[in-house]
Amino acid sequence: MAGGQAEVWGQLVARRKFGDGTFHGIRYQVLCIISISLRLNILCLLITIGIYFSTTRVALRNTLLMAFRRSCSDLFPVGNARIRETSTARSMINGAMNLSEKVEPLPEEFDPKEIVSPVALELNGVLKECADKSREIVLGRNVHTMCYTINEPEADDDITGEREAYMASVLARYRKSLIERTKHHLGYPYNLDFDYGALSQLQHFSINNLGDPFIESNYGVHSRQFEVGVLDWFARLWELDKNEYWGYITNCGTEGNLHGILVGREVFPDGILYASRESHYSVFKAARMYRMEFVKVATLVSGEIDCADFERKLLLNKEKPAIVNVNIGTTVKGAVDDLDMVIETLEKSGFRDQFYIHCDGALFGLMMPFVKRAPKVTFKKPIDSVSVSGHKFVGCPMPCGVQITRLKNINVLSNNVEYLASRDATIMGSRNGHAPIFLWYTLNRKGYRGFQKEVQKCLRNAHYLKDHLLEAGISAMLNELSSTVVLERPKDEQFVRRWQLACEGNIAHVVVMPNVTIEKIDYFLAELIKSRLSWYGDGESKPPCIAGDIGEENCCCSRHNT
Ligand SMILES: Cc1ncc(COP(=O)(O)O)c(C=O)c1O
Repeated sequence: MAGGQAEVWGQLVARRKFGDGTFHGIRYQVLCIISISLRLNILCLLITIGIYFSTTRVALRNTLLMAFRRSCSDLFPVGNARIRETSTARSMINGAMNLSEKVEPLPEEFDPKEIVSPVALELNGVLKECADKSREIVLGRNVHTMCYTINEPEADDDITGEREAYMASVLARYRKSLIERTKHHLGYPYNLDFDYGALSQLQHFSINNLGDPFIESNYGVHSRQFEVGVLDWFARLWELDKNEYWGYITNCGTEGNLHGILVGREVFPDGILYASRESHYSVFKAARMYRMEFVKVATLVSGEIDCADFERKLLLNKEKPAIVNVNIGTTVKGAVDDLDMVIETLEKSGFRDQFYIHCDGALFGLMMPFVKRAPKVTFKKPIDSVSVSGHKFVGCPMPCGVQITRLKNINVLSNNVEYLASRDATIMGSRNGHAPIFLWYTLNRKGYRGFQKEVQKCLRNAHYLKDHLLEAGISAMLNELSSTVVLERPKDEQFVRRWQLACEGNIAHVVVMPNVTIEKIDYFLAELIKSRLSWYGDGESKPPCIAGDIGEENCCCSRHNT
């Protein structure tokens, strides 16, 4: 392209973008250089201009502008940084370029151009990784291979409609993938069956319960009235008098564990933390965070704490109080520690009044009270705190949880904060104000009787799944008080991912929640049985022996299936 044509093109593009004012100096020359460097032939130039001025081809025009600005920012460094499209545009408002305007340099590491995602493929509405890499976790290098890129908004408003349309299409596709992923979810203890349509009107409010639930803060857009209602309900469930409990709605079960163990540490600053080896990782994290002495206790095959080992370890540390994490449902096997036996072990080992018990009821904390024959979790026993997750059995659409402790314990932990006009006794500062309303809504709708029905259905369906797995020759175990079915880990990682199964070593589990129906279980069983034929049908490879994890009587491997 001749230099003159290039100049015209450069001028047109720049004028269209930056107005009709004087266009001079160094930037003008730069535009010409860019134009030349693009080496467009004359036909290209005409098409380009035609497309550029076409109001019906806004997208193409924007692409051109974007490309132009990209070359601009590549060629035109300011100080240490490059000119971003926004800063360029801002400095050229209403025609005249203001070269003296200071352009804020961006930090070297932030270059919007570089935040580009690889093209994501979609299959049945599901985003797939572009490269067919294995999902092996590389510690310290957890690369994610797909994302919805954030594109810098344009300075001109006329593309707003288009941007909205783009975002709406992304969201619609994402929604479709959520529907598909929900249909194939079995591995995590989340109840995905709910309808909170009535609460959509609240999304316009920034509801925040910062501070103590029982002390009004200066921030008025809160939902403490719902929060306290929910806390009262749980305190009643776990039999702690209204005037004797303290609690709050947490962000999740992990926060409940972190809080319960922290209160224990404040009550017994030199206490040793005891927890079974099958406790949730948040318990070990608490020990690290608070730099507490920590003793790991062995478990039985079922996954519950081994009280013989617990006693041995207590007796080795008699001089220091015990802070004990008791599992009301372990993460992998759904095992329930025998609370009565834990208390008995503490007392007979001489720890009378020298122990603090936190009950981690993330999943079963709300199911256990409705299981016949289950030992009771109640503050009538010498326990100090109980936590539960709100997004698990209850079925809240956002992570949340409930933490209840004895009021007398919390005074040891809390401080007054003038800025909040409240008391600081929680782990987090700002707290989700929507979550208590969702919890309140569900508790009101279902009530004790509704939960009882759902618990019974989950246990029935879990037995159905376990029985059918064993009938098909697939190793499986189900603890008596649980709806977590442990099974052999499917050989194919694709299958594991499709059904979103949580795995550990050679075992996987299905957590039967209220949304896991018989139809869904049958669908899963049919796929698993068919897939196993292709994995093991040739007789060469064999399913793993998992007797060590679930007991010989539940193992169907070639050695134990006699
Ligand atoms: C026994 C147990 N405790 C605590 C947690 C943590 O709960 P959350 O995911 O709500 O933080 C889990 C999660 O699965 C769990 O299984």
